[in-house]
Amino acid sequence: MDRTKQASDLIDADLDRILTSFHSQYVWHYGPVKEGLRDLYEKSKREQWNATTQLDWGIDVDPESEIIPAAMNPLQDYGPFKRCSAKEQAHVRHAMLAWQLSQFLHGEQGAMMTASQLVSCVPWIDAKYYASSQVMDEARHVEVFDRYLREKLEWEFPINENLRKLLDVILTDSRWDFKYLGMQILVEGLAMAAFGNLYQMADDPLIKELIYYVMRDESRHVAFGVLSLEGFYADMPENELRDREDFIIEASLLMRDRLIGDDIADVMGFDRGEVRQLILDSPVMQAFRQQLFARVVPNVNRLGLMTPRVRDAFAEMKILQFADSDPEEQDRALGIASD
Ligand SMILES: [Fe+2]
Ligand SMILES: [Fe+2]
Repeated sequence: MDRTKQASDLIDADLDRILTSFHSQYVWHYGPVKEGLRDLYEKSKREQWNATTQLDWGIDVDPESEIIPAAMNPLQDYGPFKRCSAKEQAHVRHAMLAWQLSQFLHGEQGAMMTASQLVSCVPWIDAKYYASSQVMDEARHVEVFDRYLREKLEWEFPINENLRKLLDVILTDSRWDFKYLGMQILVEGLAMAAFGNLYQMADDPLIKELIYYVMRDESRHVAFGVLSLEGFYADMPENELRDREDFIIEASLLMRDRLIGDDIADVMGFDRGEVRQLILDSPVMQAFRQQLFARVVPNVNRLGLMTPRVRDAFAEMKILQFADSDPEEQDRALGIASD
């Protein structure tokens, strides 16, 4: 599929504009301000990688093979799915993987745009350094997911509506700490869990290697958010803190309630409502939806944002058990921890 286009051929459907506005801040103090940020920036420079040469793009991928184990398919016991031919079932598998990776792709674009905003709006020079390196990381992530989807799966889905809503909020809110909270703590925290899950399950050396490299970068991005915001909320007036609580609760619900079955149902002509319900009720998916928050919850706690309201909301979402879990330990378990 040739997607090369002349600049003049770009049509409105290829573009999507939102108006953003925030204070850009020069910083005339060039010394370090936040402990740990310089070290993180050094680490980022050491860990740069080139996806073009470091990944083996020559690997053959059969997009209809069982890259994700069949047991993980929430439609496994759904009548209309069971009645499908083997070929059609393979088509559903293909669609599901393409759908998930497409959301990663679009999320990465949102991350790239957010990181570029952070360069401008953060009030410390070392955070500007770090955010600049993150822009490069995110460009690479967009690049690799796009390439895998285009060359290996040859199928791409549009962005999920809830993910789009959250990205819009992050990009348009003028307060810089919301950009961190939304992107570094929530979106990237969720992404780390989803990547970790895919990494452990996937049976394809290229996607595994790609995810491994991306996860190493993402783990630093989450750390960037935590280091930057640590202590920031300690003396915040109650009304301002309330805005942060609302944001965390609403964004968490938005991400939990992504209607992930609709596109797949449409591909096969299945009933949207039935597929949605099945995915909501499936024990595999329920466990997965909780597990997604295994990094978000402890980091919210670390930032001093586990207020009674947030705690209640997390308890209701059945994700409060992660409050004291250790994201570094999770990194070590995935083999991506480095010094
Ligand atoms: Fe990324
Ligand atoms: Fe990231």
